[in-house]
Amino acid sequence: NKRVKIKTVLEQNLIGQEITLMGWVRTKRSNKNVSFIALNDGSTITNYQVVADPNVIADDILKKCSTGACIKITGSVVESLGSGQSSEINAQSIEILGEADPEKYPLQPKKHSLEFLREIAHLRMRTNTFGAVFRVRHALAFAVHKYFNDKGFFYIHTPIITASDAEGAGEMFHVTTLPIGNPPRTEDGKVDYKQDFFERETNLTVSGQLEGELAAMALSEIYTFGPTFRAENSNTTRHLAEFWMIEPEMAFYDAEDNQNLAEDFLKYVIRYALEHCEEDLKFLAQRAQDEENTKPADQRAELGLIEKLKFVVENDFVRLTYTEAIDILRNSNPNKKKKFQYLIESWGADLQSEHERYLVEKHFKKPVILTDYPKDIKAFYMRQNEDGKTVAAMDILFPGIGEIVGGSQREERLEKLTQRMQEMNIPEEELWWYLDTRRFGATPHAGFGLGFERMVLFVTGMSNIRDVIAFPRTPGNAEF
Ligand code: 4AD
Ligand code: MG
Repeated sequence: NKRVKIKTVLEQNLIGQEITLMGWVRTKRSNKNVSFIALNDGSTITNYQVVADPNVIADDILKKCSTGACIKITGSVVESLGSGQSSEINAQSIEILGEADPEKYPLQPKKHSLEFLREIAHLRMRTNTFGAVFRVRHALAFAVHKYFNDKGFFYIHTPIITASDAEGAGEMFHVTTLPIGNPPRTEDGKVDYKQDFFERETNLTVSGQLEGELAAMALSEIYTFGPTFRAENSNTTRHLAEFWMIEPEMAFYDAEDNQNLAEDFLKYVIRYALEHCEEDLKFLAQRAQDEENTKPADQRAELGLIEKLKFVVENDFVRLTYTEAIDILRNSNPNKKKKFQYLIESWGADLQSEHERYLVEKHFKKPVILTDYPKDIKAFYMRQNEDGKTVAAMDILFPGIGEIVGGSQREERLEKLTQRMQEMNIPEEELWWYLDTRRFGATPHAGFGLGFERMVLFVTGMSNIRDVIAFPRTPGNAEF
């Protein structure tokens, strides 16, 4: 018998047929007449009921069908009366593929905290919650590719190892083959990178944007979707040292085209998840609701997970400039809260997450596209506005998440760009190849970056970014 997936058994009417299932035991209930095994194979959140008659299946085999064990069942599909599903399988034979000693297996059937599960990340995908999260994550990744493919964008693979710091924030992991502790040095005492594999200093990429721009200057509309790395020491529920970023880059787009694309794209992938992950989202919505219910009533979210997702898909995002946002923040909180207060004194400060949350969750109660930030808090490549103070930046802020997208129209004018690089102490020699796109066939262009895990966080209703990537990399955490 060929193996059938549980998802297939549930979707197709196989009653009367003999099939083979393989999967992991979630629970087993036994009395002297019969054993019921709840089996999961990851194809769906639903556990399938296996009915085992002790007259047919040997005692020692049944005993080994404990939580966590991997088993193979052959039997016939019959109508089910009790299991809450339309069918179940009557086992004719069970083979133990892999035992799981009940004394040692850590995932016994009870409620485990997410903190505990994080410590056993190598096993946590076997729980309902993480199974659902990773199926939704997959669907979102697929939707990203589908969206861009359908629009005629080309997927570009940008390098992981690079010599450039695209964001200029100095948050890079260095890559070197030189011996740690005692690297070769030049006569003046500096590390001699000439003896390194790449014969120069390199790092893990913080963004594929600069290479993406090169590709857009040839293929018009491209996107990247790859791992990016930030050595920022922020221990928050929104930051990872290794995260996946989607970065579309488009020739002939201005700032407004860029905003339109970003809004359409975000809505598309969320809608895709709503349409293709119904069961998992229903489960995750209940999980999120249970978590909300542990909070004081006045701090609970107004909308449930599914309502929140639908709301985002169905409503226009708010668009306003940084300067307009500052005005709102000033008026919103006349001198009551210190954290808001400093904005009143200094136009030009970066928004803190409190400010972003206030705008999105309290004031507008909608996703917000914030544009035209002060140039001094943004990267060198953003297009300078006529006012001499701001750049054509956009950040998209989501409820419960904060910044989910960062992007801009790019500075395509060579002189303006090199002048800005000088002001920010970025040596032209290091980016000669980037500047070549401004020398040869330059054109207005724009792009943005979506932090994929922040999107997965939003759609799954999980509350910690460590719980939406299989093996999170955060400060001090690289075990597996
Ligand atoms: O705002 P960022 O730093 O922008 C860029 O890297 C641009 N080069 C993007 C572009 O225009 N092509 O990062 C973009 C997004 C953020 O909005 C956030 O969603 C996510 O990447 N992000 C992180 N996600 C998880 N952990 C971190 N440490 C993140 N840093 C940024
Ligand atoms: Mg940003």
